[in-house]
Amino acid sequence: MKLLATLAAALMTTGVMAGQYSTTAHGKQSTGVQRLAGIPRGNCDQCHSAHGSDGQYYDFALFEGNFGAAKNQLCYTSGCHDSASPKGVYHGPTVYATSAHNTDPNAFWPGPSPDGRAPADSGNCANCHDPHGLGDNAGLIPALAVAREETLCLTCHDSNGPSMKDIARQLSKTYTHRIADGVMSGRHAPGEDIITTNYSGMKRHVECVDCHNPHKLPSSVTHTPGTNTASDVLKGVSRVEAQYGASAWMPPAFSPRAANYVTDTRFEYEVCFKCHSSWAYGSAPPTAPSGGLETDQSVEFNPNNLSYHPVVAEIKNNSYTSPTATNGNIETMESPWDNGRHDTMYCADCHRSEVDNETKGPHGSYNAYMLRAATGATDNTFCLKCHKASVYAPSTDPGSTETGSRFDRQTTGNEEANHYFHVIGQQARCRDCHAGAESGTGFVRPGSAHGSNRAYGFVNGAKIRTFTPGLCTPTCHDHEDYTAGPE
Ligand code: HEC
Ligand code: HEC
Ligand code: HEC
Ligand code: HEC
Ligand code: HEC
Ligand code: HEC
Ligand code: HEC
Ligand code: HEC
Repeated sequence: MKLLATLAAALMTTGVMAGQYSTTAHGKQSTGVQRLAGIPRGNCDQCHSAHGSDGQYYDFALFEGNFGAAKNQLCYTSGCHDSASPKGVYHGPTVYATSAHNTDPNAFWPGPSPDGRAPADSGNCANCHDPHGLGDNAGLIPALAVAREETLCLTCHDSNGPSMKDIARQLSKTYTHRIADGVMSGRHAPGEDIITTNYSGMKRHVECVDCHNPHKLPSSVTHTPGTNTASDVLKGVSRVEAQYGASAWMPPAFSPRAANYVTDTRFEYEVCFKCHSSWAYGSAPPTAPSGGLETDQSVEFNPNNLSYHPVVAEIKNNSYTSPTATNGNIETMESPWDNGRHDTMYCADCHRSEVDNETKGPHGSYNAYMLRAATGATDNTFCLKCHKASVYAPSTDPGSTETGSRFDRQTTGNEEANHYFHVIGQQARCRDCHAGAESGTGFVRPGSAHGSNRAYGFVNGAKIRTFTPGLCTPTCHDHEDYTAGPE
């Protein structure tokens, strides 16, 4: 008993609140830890004893080593965390072994609260979890974590490290996922079920762990532009798969998948659709922090639509975005999209930091809607991040040599029906003709840069009344016929 009394006294002085332990998952009398059948569940002796079964003495009088070379052995050999947790939050030692949080030498808690750990403790569960539970002003911190929600992650993922990936910087920007602004805190629950009510109404929320599983970052390789396949960084989280039928401008059939569903996250958009589709909010969309009601992204990216950005599928009827004989073998895309083929893409290729070499992901930006460049009323810089200015906004008049696009002078055979005449000559902006209103004219509808079922080639701009290839009726002048290239 002397050992326990000493331990208990020490525990009190290390800041663990009296009485709190018995309310934790480890300490509960009904369901708490049980290694030894002879003593009650949750009892300190379940983990602490004068010596281990091998007669050895371990630090903190633990029954088994847990630190240094014995990394996490106590958690595993207890018979408790040698397999996955029921809701798939924790996927077991084999999966954890390959995670960046286990393998990276910088994955150790820097402190100051609770105290920092030594680099030798990198990869230890105890960097993120206190087996006795910790409290803060709001009470017991869920999941036995050492800090609440994003604070846990940002303590390492800030400019002070030890992680090299500074996410705190992204969240300090004007437009962010509302992870750290307090409005939606306390709504996420570890292991929450993938049901719509958890992601809508008063439960609507977003936390780091809604998109990342800290126990499952298999190789932590982020994605390379050109694909929509989910990278390892998005594995092991709940998500919503989409099966599209044959109809345009309709939501898909949705299949919600738990974090431990047999096949892992396939596409990035499945994670986004969990919150940004009618699956989550039905017919009552939330308000985007940057303004306006949100639109249903699962409808906008439906591959049956006449045109769309290739988030769900490649664009279907356009040989002009990649070099072929039809467009004079001209590359129309900027690097890294200039790979001679059609691509698919991430939502986060557009929604991310405005600085190219900063951390990837939709964490924050100084541009509205968390965009990588401004898409204001007169601004073409956003579109020209990926679509070549030399094709769509050439600085000098290419005259009769203008080529590359379906709307160039060589294709249309017309001095005015082309990009140079409009974009440079008339100072039209991309969204006057592309990705504007879904119906009506004179405005840009949020979300219309995603996809549209109004016309081919996204020609539903703010100033377009009607468009079919070869026949355009804008608000600026009478309708104009020209020779359109093959679709
Ligand atoms: C689930 C296993 C487990 C149970 C149950 C448990 N402990 Fe611990 N305890 C640990 C581990 C692991 C450490 C080392 C923690 C670290 O390095 O952060 C530890 C460390 C300690 C320490 C010293 C380090 C510190 O946190 O200051 C004290 C004191 C302590 N435990 C007391 C208790 C008491 C009292 C109880 C019962 C009320 C208890 N423990 C129940 C696993 C457990
Ligand atoms: C104890 C420090 C620490 C904590 C706490 C922590 N991380 Fe990490 N994390 C790291 C380190 C170190 C890496 C390895 C790569 C690096 O240097 O950032 C990493 C890697 C990652 C990666 C993979 C990035 C890549 O491309 O390599 C993701 C995603 C991630 N962490 C998310 C989280 C989330 C979400 C949380 C909170 C639940 C969290 N981290 C908490 C230290 C930490
Ligand atoms: C980088 C931080 C980090 C590390 C390292 C870490 N975890 Fe976790 N763990 C978390 C977070 C955060 C949650 C809550 C996740 C959520 O809310 O979805 C969690 C949840 C869990 C849960 C589920 C709790 C519940 O209430 O359902 C278990 C079990 C778990 N962790 C075990 C472990 C074990 C065992 C290790 C070491 C082998 C470990 N964790 C390492 C951050 C971490
Ligand atoms: C767990 C829920 C959740 C997931 C998953 C999620 N989001 Fe969000 N997102 C939100 C919430 C909450 C907001 C704030 C507005 C709202 O309630 O929709 C938001 C807002 C946004 C905004 C608007 C920002 C603004 O300034 O107006 C964009 C863009 C966005 N998310 C993109 C994404 C992308 C891309 C993904 C997938 C990688 C994604 N989101 C996944 C919950 C989520
Ligand atoms: C080609 C770039 C691009 C891609 C890819 C993209 N977005 Fe957007 N998104 C935009 C632009 C631009 C806006 C700003 C509104 C506007 O100006 O039309 C926007 C606005 C939003 C908004 C807020 C307004 C609204 O209509 O809901 C959300 C939420 C959003 N995007 C989520 C997503 C998700 C989720 C994906 C992937 C499934 C995605 N975006 C893919 C460019 C993109
Ligand atoms: C992050 C990169 C990116 C940004 C930013 C971007 N696009 Fe795209 N866009 C693409 C990719 C990739 C494709 C498909 C190209 C391919 O087939 O390889 C595409 C295709 C298109 C198409 C052809 C669609 C079809 O169905 O035929 C149009 C039109 C278009 N984009 C216009 C725009 C406009 C206007 C903007 C600005 C509001 C914009 N894009 C911003 C990457 C981008
Ligand atoms: C709405 C979903 C979402 C949320 C919420 C979110 N992330 Fe991410 N995160 C992403 C996506 C998408 C990527 C890019 C993955 C890729 O490129 O394959 C990413 C990338 C990362 C990376 C790797 C960056 C790089 O350049 O290597 C880290 C680290 C990371 N996130 C940590 C966090 C932390 C910490 C939080 C909470 C503060 C968080 N994320 C919240 C979606 C999210
Ligand atoms: C005056 C209207 C107008 C303006 C302004 C305009 N475009 Fe176009 N664009 C078109 C038309 C018309 C097409 C051909 C659509 C079709 O036939 O399918 C087209 C086609 C495209 C395509 C599809 C691939 C191709 O080249 O055929 C892309 C990408 C594109 N434009 C990008 C841009 C960008 C980027 C800007 C701004 C710098 C811009 N456009 C400005 C009218 C315009």
